[in-house]
Amino acid sequence: MTLAILSALPEEQQGLVEQLQQPRQVQHAGRTFTLGHWHGLPVVLALSRIGKVAAATTATALVEKFGVQRIVFTGVAGGLGDGVQVGDVVVASGFVQHDMNAAPLFPPLEVPLYGRALFPCSAELIATLLIAARAGVDCAGGTFNAKVHHGLIASGDRFVSAAAESQALQTALRSHGYEALAVEMEGAAVAQVCADYGVPFAAVRTISDRADDTAHGDFAEFVRSTASRYALAIIGVLVRSLPAA
Ligand code: ADE
Repeated sequence: MTLAILSALPEEQQGLVEQLQQPRQVQHAGRTFTLGHWHGLPVVLALSRIGKVAAATTATALVEKFGVQRIVFTGVAGGLGDGVQVGDVVVASGFVQHDMNAAPLFPPLEVPLYGRALFPCSAELIATLLIAARAGVDCAGGTFNAKVHHGLIASGDRFVSAAAESQALQTALRSHGYEALAVEMEGAAVAQVCADYGVPFAAVRTISDRADDTAHGDFAEFVRSTASRYALAIIGVLVRSLPAA
């Protein structure tokens, strides 16, 4: 069962390629896919680039061209929930698109013709990823008292970089009954593609910023200095824990 490990940016995935036995690069759809084995597990590493469309293209290619049977996203996110701090980790329970609104044709946030806004992650992958995240945070030497959270993540084509904006986003989501722990720009698109193909999906995001007025600076520094260490530690444990077949 081939596992795809997807990230938006090279900095989020740095160090993973070196872990692969017999890595082989394939160029497809303007992206580089790296195929190989990690602890005996067949894996494909891919960079989605930023935003929902780029992520959906990459996820589709992973399924259609590379035949992957499960996808895990690893990267960074802005913290939205109370107590979700920089250096903490969020394992997604599911995703909503915070910028989806086809009202009055469909209820706000609902993905038209899917009859729902929320795309849940695979329970099996979540369970393994939660264990991997807890172990990974410890061995990555994360921030003192870094916590692993589990809950909803909101995705949209917007880098949220103002406290007023993140509060408005949280309020809008709450008004529709959704309590999001974090915000990023790709997960919900990958979740939707995976739902279309019946491919199990899960995601782990390290909190790089609080989606507030300092988000831009915090994000750049965190991605450079910390994000890849977390990805390497967490995904390293994950691939050792997943059944190969
Ligand atoms: N990814 C990391 N931080 C983010 C933010 N503040 N907004 C959107 N995506 C992010």
